[in-house]
Amino acid sequence: MNKLQLGKSELEVSDIALGCMRMKDLTKENAAAVIENAREEGIDFFDHADIYGGGDSEELFAKALKLTSVSRQNLILQTKCGIRPGFFDFSKEHIIASVEGSLRRLNTDYIDILLLHRPDALVEPEEVAEAFTELETSGKVRHFGVSNHNPMQVELLKKHVQQELIVNQMQLSLMHTPMIDAGLNVNMHNDPAVVRDSSTLDYSRLHDMTIQAWSPFQYGMIKGVFVGNDNFPEVNTKLQEIAEKKGVSDSAAAVAWILRHPARIQTIVGTMNTERLSSIAKASGVQLTKEEWYELYRAAGNELP
Ligand SMILES: NC(=O)c1ccc[n+]([C@@H]2O[C@H](COP(=O)([O-])OP(=O)(O)OC[C@H]3O[C@@H](n4cnc5c(N)ncnc54)[C@H](OP(=O)(O)O)[C@@H]3O)[C@@H](O)[C@H]2O)c1
Repeated sequence: MNKLQLGKSELEVSDIALGCMRMKDLTKENAAAVIENAREEGIDFFDHADIYGGGDSEELFAKALKLTSVSRQNLILQTKCGIRPGFFDFSKEHIIASVEGSLRRLNTDYIDILLLHRPDALVEPEEVAEAFTELETSGKVRHFGVSNHNPMQVELLKKHVQQELIVNQMQLSLMHTPMIDAGLNVNMHNDPAVVRDSSTLDYSRLHDMTIQAWSPFQYGMIKGVFVGNDNFPEVNTKLQEIAEKKGVSDSAAAVAWILRHPARIQTIVGTMNTERLSSIAKASGVQLTKEEWYELYRAAGNELP
């Protein structure tokens, strides 16, 4: 499994990570098998959030980890805060309370990376800064980042936050590419030219923030999986063709498409199926050519100007 450096931090982590949003429905034994399998495949990075399963995913993960031979120190645990029922909350009080909850549920005394989950329209960056400094000073959180933020929102946080923001976790898959479309359709009247994210990808490259791609197999807002889906024949035919050529599964080819981007994007996959995870992990060793990358992009329904 290839590694990548997260932002400007010292962290070198697997370029494929396991997202634990869907873990809550597993038995403790099955969750343990998923964690063991991920480690065997070289995945050392696990993505959580306080809200996944209402906290159950974090709790189950910790209980399952105890059944494995994997030790906490060999894992990078990332979690998120800021989404509450019906609103977003980046207040100092909530950020700290959320981290305390995650620490308890994950049964650990430190979080490797804490992300602000989704922008809070009422954010007061001074409060975020106070919360981050308190959490860093107490050793409860080692690194910080954001999710679903645009560059100006990051800049606003940076005005007050002392710590490096090393990650921005964004939705990106072969069938969800607004981050890429606008950059290919500069100054045009067509829909893909609309900049929906204020050029997050270019900003991240300029400022050495790592983009993490969430839901790499979903289309729409987690509407369903496009791989093997008859509604998307063209992209599936091309995925099959490239997967066959590279000797990997279609799902691995879809992840290889994300990993091919020179921004060095980390892909957060959400499968809870060990066989599927093993097949996806092979994406890490696949290098698509420029032509193959563009062929897949066009097969996903995108026209080049
Ligand atoms: N920051 C955010 O706002 C945000 C939002 C959503 C998610 N996330 C993070 O991103 C992670 C991944 O999200 P996700 O679970 O929606 O992503 P995903 O990897 O695109 O989807 C995984 C789901 O697709 C299913 N699936 C069916 N066929 C598949 C195939 N051929 N290949 C791969 N998967 C297939 C899997 O089922 P099986 O388990 O049966 O394989 C699983 O239920 C989450 O766990 C979370 O950590 C972050």
